[in-house]
Amino acid sequence: MNIPKHIAIIMDGNGRWAEKRGLPKVIGHKQGVDIVKNTVKLCLKTGVQYLTLYAFSTENWSRPDSEIKALFQLLENFIDNEIKLFHDNKIKFCIIGERSRIQKDLLAKVEKTEKDTSDYHDLTLNIALSYGARQEILNAARILAQDAKSGKIDPKDIDEKMFSSNLYTAGQPDPDLLIRTSGEMRVSNFLLWQISYSELYVTETLWPDFDEREFNKAIETYSKRDRRFGGR
Ligand code: IPE
Ligand code: IPE
Ligand code: MG
Repeated sequence: MNIPKHIAIIMDGNGRWAEKRGLPKVIGHKQGVDIVKNTVKLCLKTGVQYLTLYAFSTENWSRPDSEIKALFQLLENFIDNEIKLFHDNKIKFCIIGERSRIQKDLLAKVEKTEKDTSDYHDLTLNIALSYGARQEILNAARILAQDAKSGKIDPKDIDEKMFSSNLYTAGQPDPDLLIRTSGEMRVSNFLLWQISYSELYVTETLWPDFDEREFNKAIETYSKRDRRFGGR
């Protein structure tokens, strides 16, 4: 089987999962975190080398404060609970997104975890947090404009490689497979630059139900795809 090197996932449907059961939305998010842990383990098992998870978008800041607080608390608990998993399995932990909007204490914990796992490379786990692809692209454009203004680079030299190296995902391969759960047919401002040639897979399954069977189904589907990259 052809295993994708990099999988990106738009983890959607936590709210609907909870609603279907008459439970508060936060229980759906909590169940979603268990699925994150499970998915990390499945990537280790199958040899996927990069996993990028959309946890919180720049647009998600418009959600109620209580939900935002609960989501960030869940992330903090996830780091505390899984740090051993990261060390035991040589997982590099990274955050991609607007760091300036993340609460100071949590950011300190995130950055310590990044530093402590920076030498690992069996699996790179990117958590997209306060992430927006347009924001990321604008940020890269700003850095390059500044570099051009100060004479560090010539605008003529700006190519795809240089541009990519100023994105949050600098140095990482683009996703081979983009999965979205809960059936929505949109990319919701996720990795717009990086998914240019990713294979898309949308499942009706809600994120809290995305188990090993669902994971394998996505990989099997990917495996049968004919990636032509415009070349024939
Ligand atoms: C996905 O679940 C998690 C985040 C966006 C943080 P949602 O909360 O969007 O769940 P639905 O789309 O309402 O079902
Ligand atoms: C996308 O889900 C963002 C994350 C999964 C973190 P949303 O639920 O926020 O996206 P829309 O509103 O359906 O586009
Ligand atoms: Mg949603």
